[in-house]
Amino acid sequence: MNEVIPELLTYDEAALDRSFATLADEVRSEASALTTPEAQENFRLHWLGRKQGRLKLISEAWLKSAPAEARKPLGIRFNQLKQQIESALESPSATAKKPAEQGIDITLPGAVRAPGIPHPLLKTMHEIVSVFHHLGYSTNLGPQVESDFYNFEALNFPPNHPARDTQDTLQIAAQHTRPGRDRLLMRTHTSPVQIRTMVAQAPPIRIVIPGKVHRNDAADATHSPIFHQVEGLCVDTNITFSDLKGTLDHAMKALFGSAVKTRFFPSFFPFTEPSADVQISCIFCGGKGCRKCKHSGWIELLGCGMVDPAVFASVTAERRKTNPADDAYNPEKITGFAFGMGVERIAMIQHGISDIGHFYSGDMRFLEQFA
Ligand code: DAH
Repeated sequence: MNEVIPELLTYDEAALDRSFATLADEVRSEASALTTPEAQENFRLHWLGRKQGRLKLISEAWLKSAPAEARKPLGIRFNQLKQQIESALESPSATAKKPAEQGIDITLPGAVRAPGIPHPLLKTMHEIVSVFHHLGYSTNLGPQVESDFYNFEALNFPPNHPARDTQDTLQIAAQHTRPGRDRLLMRTHTSPVQIRTMVAQAPPIRIVIPGKVHRNDAADATHSPIFHQVEGLCVDTNITFSDLKGTLDHAMKALFGSAVKTRFFPSFFPFTEPSADVQISCIFCGGKGCRKCKHSGWIELLGCGMVDPAVFASVTAERRKTNPADDAYNPEKITGFAFGMGVERIAMIQHGISDIGHFYSGDMRFLEQFA
């Protein structure tokens, strides 16, 4: 390194410009090699070192002996140089050499980076949600760690009721000192967000609730202990079972094509009365019967029903804790319907996927097919 300070013969602006340009070139070329922390430290000492740093030597050689009128132009250039050094230390790459100077062959083909795509499950979830957004629904979300009250009790699964056995899940440990209704578990369905929504807001309500749910189910080709659902809830005056049928028939046609037919089968869910399972005509055989629909011509897809008055009663009891006169969910005045569907199941039918495990495998050969 060159510790010789160039001589400054005159102090006119042109001479100052020339001398500082030489120094700026020096800084630039040294800054381009600051690839390691050691190189940076050496560079810093070389220029900014308190005793032997070049800036210090330059200030002694040039500033001190400068005539009064040259001090200002000299000082300005001196500060610019100092700033150049400091910014080289802050972002060494900014002053680094351009690619061509580093010997990069710009005629080589570039590295192609494949853009990311949404996971097929997310894509289906967004598709379902957007069908309902077009009908004027909004989206609500809720926690995956849920209390017994929201997941079961308020949805008319009383403690120890056998209906709970169909939705076994993981409990959060060390909860026995809490009252039963406050005990935490991994939610088994998205239905608890129906309750959260109604407790928080009065009708009219039109919401969809996408999210992750958990069950103590052994994994097989069609089951996974963690999966996804989209829930729906509509509460208003004069909502009837016909509204439910029309809404879901439209949604199934929007998702699977306008040729799809729907039918509603009596079923049971504690939180709806009456309850139904919705089946669509088999999209693989058009209803003639094939292996996929077990030769029935129909595929069962989701659960639904009219909101049970017992659910409105739980909601009202919660709302009356803050407003004793609350009557927003009086079942004499309002009615509603709800539905819930499995995202995995719908995505598997959409794409003809036979093993649910593919969704979670992270296997690029599977995922790339959705790009
Ligand atoms: N929560 C139900 C389940 O996970 C699905 C369901 C059925 C949701 C009927 C609903 C409904 O909102 O009305 O099995």
